Amino acid sequence: MLVLGIETSCDETAAAVVERAADGSGRILSDVVLSQIDDHAAYGGVVPEIAARAHVEALDGVVARALADAGVGFDDLAAVAGTAGPGLIGGLLVGLTTAKALALAAGKPLIAVNHLEAHALTARLTDRVAFPYLLLLVSGGHTQFVAVDDVGRYRRLGTTVDDALGEAFDKVAKLLGLGYPGGPAVERMALAGDPARFALPRPLIGRPGADFSFSGLKTAARLAAEEAAPLSDTDVADLCASFQAAVTDTVADRAARAMDIFVDGGERGGVLVVAGGVAANKALAAALKTVADDKGFRLVVPPAKLCSDNGVMVAWAGAERLARGRTDDFTAPARPRWPLDPEAAARVGGGARGQRA
Ligand code: KG4
Ligand code: ZN
Repeated sequence: MLVLGIETSCDETAAAVVERAADGSGRILSDVVLSQIDDHAAYGGVVPEIAARAHVEALDGVVARALADAGVGFDDLAAVAGTAGPGLIGGLLVGLTTAKALALAAGKPLIAVNHLEAHALTARLTDRVAFPYLLLLVSGGHTQFVAVDDVGRYRRLGTTVDDALGEAFDKVAKLLGLGYPGGPAVERMALAGDPARFALPRPLIGRPGADFSFSGLKTAARLAAEEAAPLSDTDVADLCASFQAAVTDTVADRAARAMDIFVDGGERGGVLVVAGGVAANKALAAALKTVADDKGFRLVVPPAKLCSDNGVMVAWAGAERLARGRTDDFTAPARPRWPLDPEAAARVGGGARGQRA
């Protein structure tokens, strides 16, 4: 079963063809990702209007290349999957409308994919992880623990009450003049820094539940930077290392809680999957490995390229849904907000902060 997947929810224009066999295994036939980082770099973050226009210009070429790389045509496809949300509405409309048009023209079923579900299911493609498992989704827009019970069945166990973790990395990087996206730059600088130089807070450590909060840590990093200014290269490296150490301590503590909630007094152990762009952070993965080992969990971190936004995950989520007979009709809307767990109450109000949380 071959599925074409299209991803345009943020600043990557991506398309891929993935095969899902009857035994549930998968194979990536193509994986095309066109990053818009250069278009947004001057603004220090993603500009929604620029992103939407860039998707319009690039998407048909990206889809054509995904099919050519896979060596297949529209007739070979079982379905066309497109990200329908959550994300930036302009980009979502471009990708979803394209997916609908291709599905209609080729006479194939359409699958309107939830971007978070796509991140959530990637580990089943890369590592054949069985349900249920615990997911830590850490990206520029989302930071949450989710119990993945089955395709389409998710329970949110914890979430950020303010900033997403990737967003906190990006803001600290911006304040230190390290450019966008900030996560990789902060990680690189941290390698040469002293994590004990600045005493930054570890928000929510030791508290019940598995929620996150990063805005206080981000502010503390800003105040420390202002106090130490003008900043030498050593100061910047020490700040990055101190910030990253606070983050890894916090996430490790929250992960330990989430694993306890996940097993709910039952048998020890399970699988902890990490997804989203921040999953590429080696220090974070190492800290998570330690707590996962301690709790008898197997830690699964898909390759970095499949943790950040891509078309493969959308194609795969489409294939998983299709295998269960779940397709969508052409009225499927683009949804800027689309929580995985509809029962989970919003931790913060509406607007950008609510959407991110
Ligand atoms: O999943 P993603 O590609 O896009 C969405 O936000 O959906 O995640 C991008 C985020 C950015 O905030 C970026 O700074 C962060 O992931 N990131 C990292 C690293 N690589 C990417 N954060 C920390 N360490 C990294 N190595
Ligand atoms: Zn994402």
